[in-house]
Amino acid sequence: MKSAELFDRIGGDALRAAITEFYRRVVADVMIGFMFAKSDRRRLVDREWELIAALLGAPNVTYAGRPMRTAHAGHLIFGGQFERRMQILRETLRDLAVDPDVQAAWIDHSLALRAQVTRDRGSECGDSPSAGLAIAVPPANPDAPVRLRRR
Ligand code: HEM
Repeated sequence: MKSAELFDRIGGDALRAAITEFYRRVVADVMIGFMFAKSDRRRLVDREWELIAALLGAPNVTYAGRPMRTAHAGHLIFGGQFERRMQILRETLRDLAVDPDVQAAWIDHSLALRAQVTRDRGSECGDSPSAGLAIAVPPANPDAPVRLRRR
């Protein structure tokens, strides 16, 4: 697809509206909303707009925020919380009937950033069923401490 073609399918104003609605849902979310209690929502929307507009090929747009790893380093973000944000993003884009190709590019881009946002692989879909999980091994001697063994 030609550069800027994807951006033109949504346009700057509709992109801002989608991101504003997305963060409205994120900060109100019971699972991850608390993490944004001290964040400047206006700044979040502005930076996210630059990030996604640039991804979609908007001309003359540069992401002015911190690198993903740095921006998220101050928070302990679990895999399930990353998935929750992904789900809110999917639902927002679907509810606002965003162009399907724009949705796909946006979702793929977010998934590709996963390792920069969370180091927790425990609840990542596509892992082998036991990856990252530990199981409790009962001791033969009941007085011995319980050990955790990785499967
Ligand atoms: C691929 C997924 C993600 C993207 C693209 C993303 C994008 C961003 C952007 C652009 C910023 C602003 C950076 C700046 O101000 O310089 C930001 C900040 C932030 N993000 Fe994310 N984010 C992602 C995942 C997450 C997840 C899963 C959480 C938590 C559940 C999260 C929590 C935060 C918080 C709390 C801030 C504000 C940090 C601060 O104010 O210091 N982000 N994110």
